Amino acid sequence: MKSVRIGFVGAEEPNLTEAMEFDLGYFQPVMESLQEGMEVTDNRGNVVYVNQAFTRFTGINPNDWIGKNVFEAAPHTPLVQVLVSQQPVFSTRAEVRGLEVMASAVPLFVNGHMVGGVMTWQPLTQVARLQEELGQSHTLIENLYARLQQVAGAKFTFDSIIGTSKATRTAVETARKAAKADNPVLISGESGTGKELYAHAIHQASRRREKPFIKLNCNGIPESLMEDEVFGHEKGAYPGAIRTHIGRLELANGGSLFLDEVANLNLFIQDKLLRVLEHWEFFRVGGSQPIRADVRIIASSNRDLRAMVRDGKFREELFYRLNNQELGVPPLRQRREDIPLFVNYLMTRFNRKLGKSIKGVSPQALQILMGYDWPGNVRELEHVVERAMLSANEPQLTHKHLAEYLSHVSGGLMQAYDIMPMKRMEEILLRAALARYGDNLEGKKKAAQILNISLATLYNKLKKYDI
Ligand SMILES: Nc1ncnc2c1ncn2[C@@H]1O[C@H](COP(=O)(O)OP(=O)(O)O)[C@@H](O)[C@H]1O
Ligand SMILES: [Mg+2]
Repeated sequence: MKSVRIGFVGAEEPNLTEAMEFDLGYFQPVMESLQEGMEVTDNRGNVVYVNQAFTRFTGINPNDWIGKNVFEAAPHTPLVQVLVSQQPVFSTRAEVRGLEVMASAVPLFVNGHMVGGVMTWQPLTQVARLQEELGQSHTLIENLYARLQQVAGAKFTFDSIIGTSKATRTAVETARKAAKADNPVLISGESGTGKELYAHAIHQASRRREKPFIKLNCNGIPESLMEDEVFGHEKGAYPGAIRTHIGRLELANGGSLFLDEVANLNLFIQDKLLRVLEHWEFFRVGGSQPIRADVRIIASSNRDLRAMVRDGKFREELFYRLNNQELGVPPLRQRREDIPLFVNYLMTRFNRKLGKSIKGVSPQALQILMGYDWPGNVRELEHVVERAMLSANEPQLTHKHLAEYLSHVSGGLMQAYDIMPMKRMEEILLRAALARYGDNLEGKKKAAQILNISLATLYNKLKKYDI
């Protein structure tokens, strides 16, 4: 199967092209079998793909059309309209190479960036003749669009992982090893530490890299739909199941299935997944034909699965299968040395995004950033740096720009507080003291002294606030 990659092209964030590219190749068999003509462009309107029906209807050889720019070669189609408006257009009359057609077009988004557009169409005469089937094939096309969006995940590699601290190097090394084996991997770590990034990198470094990487957000799909989403269903499996639905497990065939926040799967689905991991086959809901599952499972969790096993909330057997290779991604506060690198990288990225040219960060600001505990980890750091840069009109980021978001982390910045619950104030003081004096034993002694409490009380409070 030929690989057709489509990626974001733009002056705004040229370095992200790679990260926002996805491979249409997985869908090629489906696209080729569509009776609609189909055309795909990148976000600049350069044609990257046309299917057989397109050629059949127009008589244009794909080689003569791919690479053309639709803004010049076919400026009056819904596709151009969509590339400009970034809004989908469904079932509209249009003209394609002199043919009167009924067309639909949608923009394709990856990570919030439009990477391209797709248009499908059918000659009007055919539409009339095939009216009944058209209704059905629209469902198919909408389904296909939905699927395209899902697969269109960013493709990060180990090179995208920033950090030179011991903790990061250990994690990357473990992940590289895990990537080579074909066994399940369980990535654990707090929210925002980069678990998803590692999942991508593992897939990209595995022998399955040319095959799909499919994500299942175990948190984001209602329980009642989960079984369908994972395993798919057969046409007629239940009233309303008017066509066969391919589940994520099947979409991931040959590649990797990323079970994000796997702790949220209910026990029923856990049992079904366990059976897949034992027999490497499964049934679509309502199906009687076993389907082979050649899939590498990568799971992530920010919850303590061992504790959940103890509480009967997670199947022990499934846990051990997933945990075959264990990868812990450390929280940011355990690798503070990475922070200056992150800040540098983020400044370059946000300068481009925000159209600013901020050159550096003051030593005091950096100290604040390195002293903070980052409960939201890298995600929070990204947020804070972007906010600070938004508010900065000077060439350098200083503590002033951080004040609004991180005022409580630095003693030097603790002035204007709103009224807040005493407990919250206590927590803020504790964090500030540790940020200032360090969270080793020496620092804690000093903090306790300044806060005028015993070391034992300090430890109790740190435990109470989970600091
Ligand atoms: N080591 C890293 N290098 C570069 N970016 C990172 C790193 N770790 C996390 N990020 C970024 O931080 C954000 C959160 O990461 P994500 O993988 O979604 O975290 P998680 O899945 O653990 O909640 C993403 O934007 C991600 O790209
Ligand atoms: Mg995540």
